[in-house]
Amino acid sequence: MSRLAEKRILLGVTGGIAAYKACGLTRQLIQAGACVRVVMTRAAQSFVAPLSFQALSGNPVHLDLLDTAEESAMGHIRLARWADLILIAPATADFMAKLRAGLADELLGAVCLAAEVPILVAPSMNRAMWSNPATQDNASCLAARGIRLLGPAEGGQACGESGYGRMLEPAEICRAMEKFFVQGSLAGRTVLVSAGPTREAIDPVRYLTNRSSGKMGYAMAQAAIDAGAKVTLVSGPVALDPPMEAQVVRVESAAEMFKAVVGLATRHDIYIGTAAVADYTPATVAEEKIKKHEAALVIRLTRTRDILTAVASLPNKPFTVGFAAETGNLESYAREKLEGKGLDMIAANRVGQAQGGFDTHENALWVCWNGGVKNLPMASKQDIAIQLIELISENYRAKNST
Ligand code: C5P
Repeated sequence: MSRLAEKRILLGVTGGIAAYKACGLTRQLIQAGACVRVVMTRAAQSFVAPLSFQALSGNPVHLDLLDTAEESAMGHIRLARWADLILIAPATADFMAKLRAGLADELLGAVCLAAEVPILVAPSMNRAMWSNPATQDNASCLAARGIRLLGPAEGGQACGESGYGRMLEPAEICRAMEKFFVQGSLAGRTVLVSAGPTREAIDPVRYLTNRSSGKMGYAMAQAAIDAGAKVTLVSGPVALDPPMEAQVVRVESAAEMFKAVVGLATRHDIYIGTAAVADYTPATVAEEKIKKHEAALVIRLTRTRDILTAVASLPNKPFTVGFAAETGNLESYAREKLEGKGLDMIAANRVGQAQGGFDTHENALWVCWNGGVKNLPMASKQDIAIQLIELISENYRAKNST
């Protein structure tokens, strides 16, 4: 039986050429056993007649905000309460902008504004409209609010151009929705992840940093989102796109990361410190660029404050997970850090070798907690992150059930 069986899906259709695909989508949802009600915007009705959706869904189609007719008089509040999930497919650039702004001048906008259920959006538009900073900004903002974006896909478009902007195929949308109804192991949990390197200024143009690419931390953030968590990502400077659904706080130095993480930590259930925080920072930052007058230059460094230790000593501390990058004595150094920093778990990896560790796509971890250890053999950072998130959620649940 499909996970969509008996689910009440409110399908919002907006005015794009892919509106015709929403007919096939309605049919597939009905075949999967879902109960579907369709809300169409005025523009959508120029592409497909409401009668098509009425015939396919077996329910009257909702068109007007101020409709007093008997059958479709289910007002916007009742429609929003009726649904288990709202799916907007296709979602035009215009509708995404309206959704971001919270406009309720049409029935669909009003329903979304009144909704307390998950909203999924399948964008569909010309590739330039999709990549326009205004649309990208709207998409990031919607995702950060917890609205899940499905696609768009890349390929040929009705306008004759090619690129990102195609609506996903109905079967792909149905599959994504099925996944949505599987309760992730971190559903309802909040997770704070720190990632990437830090930069410690020497003078206005130079800094000290390390080889961290941020890949492991970003993969952890994505895996936590996929497991159902609401994620805040505190990131040092990296060349990666963060997961759309994460709330991102960008920092540069170890001191900035300390302030951001410690300030946010008690508002989260779990803190995962993957960042490669500088251990030392220049004692003073030269105001002017340092000139090469001296044959040798001495820069005095002072220790940075340990973020993990600070988080683990907070009165309402989250479940705290550290990372340890070591070139040798992996297990004993990791155990020392687990105890010394007061952590709930630590994930250790060997660095300085050809495979795994800093700035590579793969990693292997030795994970240790009070009462257990587990080896996660070499795999892509994405795979390792999924396995580690599962281990973290098991240990988090075990700790909170005692
Ligand atoms: O002590 P070491 O730096 O090897 O420990 C690594 C772990 O400690 C990582 O999880 C890293 O994010 C964290 N760390 C920290 N604050 C620092 C240095 C490291 O939270 N100043």
